[in-house]
Amino acid sequence: MRSLLFVPGNSAKMIAKATASRADVIILDLEDAIHPDAKPEARRLVVETLAGASTGPRRFVRVNSLDTAWCREDVEAILPAAPDGLVLPKSSGPEDVIRLSEFVDRHEPRANKGATGIIVVCTETPSSTLSLAAKSWRHPRLAGLMWGGEDLSAAIGATANRDDQSRYTAPFLMARNLCLLAARAAGVAPIDAVFTDFRDGDGLIREADAARRDGFSGKAAIHPSQVEIINRCFAPTDEERRWAGRVIAAFESGGKGAVQLDGVMLDAPHLKQARLILAASQGGMTPVGRLLRGHPPFKP
Ligand code: COA
Ligand code: MG
Repeated sequence: MRSLLFVPGNSAKMIAKATASRADVIILDLEDAIHPDAKPEARRLVVETLAGASTGPRRFVRVNSLDTAWCREDVEAILPAAPDGLVLPKSSGPEDVIRLSEFVDRHEPRANKGATGIIVVCTETPSSTLSLAAKSWRHPRLAGLMWGGEDLSAAIGATANRDDQSRYTAPFLMARNLCLLAARAAGVAPIDAVFTDFRDGDGLIREADAARRDGFSGKAAIHPSQVEIINRCFAPTDEERRWAGRVIAAFESGGKGAVQLDGVMLDAPHLKQARLILAASQGGMTPVGRLLRGHPPFKP
């Protein structure tokens, strides 16, 4: 899951475009991108989309939050059409994963039992954000934790979430970092927030590169033009692949727990990182961060 593209669930045109994109996941939205009056129509279109051919991106549906009456209606309508997963917004803590999972259990088709994943947008309320540090989010259905700074701004009364150089301010960086650590602690994918300024490709590259460097495995998108950039930023570079190959060779020929490469000591975590890079290049799991770029052992 490198790129996850949000698409309004009531736009057949945009859904067709998202389905044909190279996003790893599309998130068909029933929540904030859909006006309350348009929700029934959006549900109908999302069900129709899920019933269609399933080649291309995996299909998740963002349902409405558990504190609305729409959430239950969304789950009842959507689950029989067997989405790959649900995205839960505005959670108040890990207990919400249990609550949503109970709904899912009730409506999941027999052929799909246990297969519906849940990605939680985990930083949209202060209580959820704090619980990232205080509680375990581990759950069999949990597939990822995504953070976002837009709803949190409104929830804490911030007048802005970035400074005059477009960098996230301290409360939002804390939310981002807690999301990353809680996701890794729960053994699921940490997913970086959407970058709303969709015409600023350079800004997106900077933010996606920083996300991967720090350990995120993917980033959400709101516009198709962001998908290729995100996919590229989250793929191992040629430099990293070469470095990984040399590290593995050094361990194989050294037969020791610690070896040296270009005068730099390498031990078990470096071997682990090298293996993750090679696995990711072969379409396996995403590596843990933009590995060692700018870190002393990595000499391109
Ligand atoms: N998924 C699929 N297609 C999309 C898309 C998306 N998220 N965003 C834009 N497109 C399509 C447009 O329909 C347009 O198609 P066309 O060339 O056939 O007319 C094309 O991509 C270019 O779009 P553009 O004109 O640059 O932008 P726009 O003004 O049509 O749309 C937004 C801008 C922000 C309204 C739109 O990108 C959007 O709705 N994004 C998702 C919002 C969302 O889901 N938010 C909730 C999660 S934070
Ligand atoms: Mg929102």
